[in-house]
Amino acid sequence: MKGILVTIDGPAGSGKSSVARQVAGRLGVVNLNTGAAYRAAALLALREKADLSDGPRLAALASRVSLDPDGASIDGERVDEPDLRSPEVSAAASKVSVNAGLREVLLPVQRAAASEARERGGAVVEGRDIGTVVLPDAELKVFLKADPDERARRRAKQTGREGELDRIREAISRRDRQDSEREVSPLKPADDAVVLDTTSLSLEEVVSQVLDLADGLRRGG
Ligand code: DC
Repeated sequence: MKGILVTIDGPAGSGKSSVARQVAGRLGVVNLNTGAAYRAAALLALREKADLSDGPRLAALASRVSLDPDGASIDGERVDEPDLRSPEVSAAASKVSVNAGLREVLLPVQRAAASEARERGGAVVEGRDIGTVVLPDAELKVFLKADPDERARRRAKQTGREGELDRIREAISRRDRQDSEREVSPLKPADDAVVLDTTSLSLEEVVSQVLDLADGLRRGG
């Protein structure tokens, strides 16, 4: 039997990654973090000193990226998590992700990973445009949002950079603008997504709400 696909979209610091990882673990399905593919493409572009607005070059580089459970690979080799998470790569990922050619290359990469995972029981797929563009037929779509100050606090805590709160808040709002104002696949909830405001919810509370929604589906609700 084919498994369930759950999409979790939302802005930086909305809790997506932690929620997706936990929900996937509790459902016993694969966790696909599509941001890792964008980050891997950005990392490759930085390593190769590519012009971050050179569409054809970015598309060629992106074709060397694959999306795996809990991460991504370049030329078939797994990229280390800390390399994907640096502030330079975060900023570059947001920049390269406005490029339509690069998104076109990464679209089938994400769909292939999701469809393979679905055959093996299902997946939680996390990103910005998963419910709207990548997997519009997913069984359950969740969109997480949270107040920008709270998102900055979470990101600072998560990365141990509490002293840099102002800088982080600024970087988050810059990325929000870039991600929601871009022409191709902007960040927005799918019409049939369940929108959860996580500002005053704990991680466990969000996880349990998503699990309840998944459970409702499984029981045919
Ligand atoms: O989720 P993240 O912060 O790891 O994503 C990094 C960047 O990749 C983010 O700024 C926007 C982009 N991205 C995207 O455009 N579409 C996705 N499905 C996932 C990420």
